[in-house]
Amino acid sequence: MSCLISRICRMAMAPCPRVLVSLTASSSSRTRTYSSSPIASSVEACHQSRITSVQLKEKELSVHWNNTSTVDLPYVFLRDNCQEPESFDQVARQRLFNPAFTVDLNIRATGAEVNEEGRQLTITWPDGHRSRYKSSWLRQYCTGNTAMSGRLPVETFYWGSDYYEKLPRFDFEELLKDDKCLLEYLLKLESHGLVLVENVGTQSQQVKRLCDHIYYPKPCIYGIDVMKVESKLDASHIAYTGVELPLHNDFVYCDYTCGIQMLHFIHHVPGSTAGASRFCDGFNVAEALRKTNLSAFDMLSQYPIQFVDAGTDTVGDYDTESWHHTISVSSSGEITEVNYSNHSRGPHFPAILMDKLHEWYAAYYEFSHLMNSPEYLIEFKVEAGQMVVFNNRRVLHGRSGFKLQGNDYRYAELCYMDWDEIRSKARVLMKKY
Ligand SMILES: [Fe+2]
Repeated sequence: MSCLISRICRMAMAPCPRVLVSLTASSSSRTRTYSSSPIASSVEACHQSRITSVQLKEKELSVHWNNTSTVDLPYVFLRDNCQEPESFDQVARQRLFNPAFTVDLNIRATGAEVNEEGRQLTITWPDGHRSRYKSSWLRQYCTGNTAMSGRLPVETFYWGSDYYEKLPRFDFEELLKDDKCLLEYLLKLESHGLVLVENVGTQSQQVKRLCDHIYYPKPCIYGIDVMKVESKLDASHIAYTGVELPLHNDFVYCDYTCGIQMLHFIHHVPGSTAGASRFCDGFNVAEALRKTNLSAFDMLSQYPIQFVDAGTDTVGDYDTESWHHTISVSSSGEITEVNYSNHSRGPHFPAILMDKLHEWYAAYYEFSHLMNSPEYLIEFKVEAGQMVVFNNRRVLHGRSGFKLQGNDYRYAELCYMDWDEIRSKARVLMKKY
């Protein structure tokens, strides 16, 4: 896979709330943005923006741009975001003062001038302090952000049952050696939600090597770092048996659901379909439901439901309970999580939902059938020596059943990671490259 990273330039009219990063030509026509996504624009567009003039008003500064647009910025916002060394640490990227205690809410600039042919604005404040702002900085932040999300700046690639041929594949050793490849891997996790790592080998602890190379694995109720997903006859969890495992997300029975699941197969049962992995793009299915049956979508996105899980694992006995919306939606309308696990769904419903239970079940039935339909479900065997990595808050996973006998068993090693670390490493590498 190519590791070329190039930027999409688009919509130069708009401010620069977010720069979308394009990785390779593999993004297909199936790629689309959320209806509520922020307008994508480029850093280049921000850098081309020039201030033509400014006007001091009572509570705000009018900034006129070379594309004829005008933005009114409150003085308190400008003073709060002063970029001078005494106000802002450029290395730590942190504010060094709290305006609530040091800046009059009704502060008014005493002067403002445009410098460097429109590339810089200098404001003078009543105490004589001067703040300089690059026009590109102002352009980037002057109109706010519609997404209000910390996700990486890549478009969501929605996928269905034909995804296997398009599945992004990465070489294990290359990920460990080449940071550009690692960046591409992290960005693809954000955009596609499901990738395959190949040539991992069948030695133990390889999944932890990749976690440690990024930052570290997340401990959980199933184990501290590497969890053994091994089929056995006296299993304490159905994941460790050979029965068919229906589509689900892990950790919906915990308040904090792990962000990333990394599953390295070390031994597998023979045959092309026995114990094959099943996946579904939960965001794509949820969007389809929103499009075709809005009242069902609302039913699943407005009411949290109960999930429970209890058992014994390497860390001891556990007994968890949490409540989540089946489909989580941000204030801007973006689907942020799918929380679905029929086998972990509890019997308790919100009291407010009790007189609408039949409607809720109808919505749940429709969503369940949709995710298992031939249009959205993919199934493939993850072979020994391969690692499948996916967004646990977006991608539902399951497997076909298989028979446990003799040397026919399924053994995989599993680590979880969180999106904070994935996105942090990606941002560090994006700055580097
Ligand atoms: Fe699972």
